[in-house]
Amino acid sequence: MTLHRWMPQPVSRGWPDDLVDGTEAGAKAVHDLVQRALALRAGAAPRQAHGKRVAAIFLNPSLRTRTSLCAACHALGVHASVLNPGTDMWRMEMGEGVVMDGDAAEHVRDAVGVLAQMHDVIAIRAFATLNDRKADLADKTLTAFRGASAVPVVNLESALYHPMQGFADVATWQHHLGPDLRGKRLTLTWAPHPKALPAAVANQVLISAAQQGMEVTVAHPEGFDLEPSIMGRAKGLASHAGGAVRVTHNQKEGLAGAQVVVAKSWSGVSGYSDRTEEATRRAAAADWCVDDTAMAHTADAGFMHCLPVRRNVVATDSVMDGPNSWVQETAGLRLWTAMAFFERLLAS
Ligand code: CP
Repeated sequence: MTLHRWMPQPVSRGWPDDLVDGTEAGAKAVHDLVQRALALRAGAAPRQAHGKRVAAIFLNPSLRTRTSLCAACHALGVHASVLNPGTDMWRMEMGEGVVMDGDAAEHVRDAVGVLAQMHDVIAIRAFATLNDRKADLADKTLTAFRGASAVPVVNLESALYHPMQGFADVATWQHHLGPDLRGKRLTLTWAPHPKALPAAVANQVLISAAQQGMEVTVAHPEGFDLEPSIMGRAKGLASHAGGAVRVTHNQKEGLAGAQVVVAKSWSGVSGYSDRTEEATRRAAAADWCVDDTAMAHTADAGFMHCLPVRRNVVATDSVMDGPNSWVQETAGLRLWTAMAFFERLLAS
């Protein structure tokens, strides 16, 4: 949007651009950010950013992202305005040139223009539609916010990526496997679910692990391919960092030798063309639930899931609560990584 003289000037950027997928500042920046998060968790004092303001807009539900953002902002002396369109904020129209005679009372350009005058950062959660592949691939809502905002935009999970989750994932890997993740073996396994789910978290695991040079295996049943363009990006990042990305349709083979297992359900590219057929395929793959037998194929791997999780569908109670579960630790790291990120962005 146009930045008028009378508007507050954007904060000096501690991150080179909007936070879209966490790769913007490079692998070392993520490495340093998560090392800072681990230091904050160990008791380091957060640098203060008194007087700064963050607007966080949630178009979808959230427990961890919302509370970690609010708690991190509080620790830094930053004010957070948390808004839910449709209940405590007007429903927004994202399209251009639309005759707004439907439910949406306000255009995204108008709403974001106002928010950007009153805040130093705008954060937005907007999941994939799962019915319009073109719009999802364009990350339509996040892109509309980025186009309308004169201040940095932070992705709190979009159609394609979930970078704040990615920082907590990298922090967990570094804590358990050491600060140099190159060559460490991570398996991202598809998991069953009663509902079709977006792939933002799976894409993020892939991109985050690849950027750190890990040996990544993506295991999923036939027909649950991730977006080819994102697979291509991940392969490029991994290759640049000395790692690799491979795909298998055999879960047992995919888990063999893994040091980290990340479970997540996603509906995949082919789900866009036929939801009924995708549901049938998903139901037929119930045996991809991660249980102790599956984990026994790994190299005593840590088990991760971003939460929320459907217990005994995605993973069994014994895996979720077992000695190798890193699930609660990763969720806790959402606070420290959010604090490290907003400290970097806002504390002068
Ligand atoms: N993992 C995660 O983002 O959790 P929420 O959806 O509860 O924020």
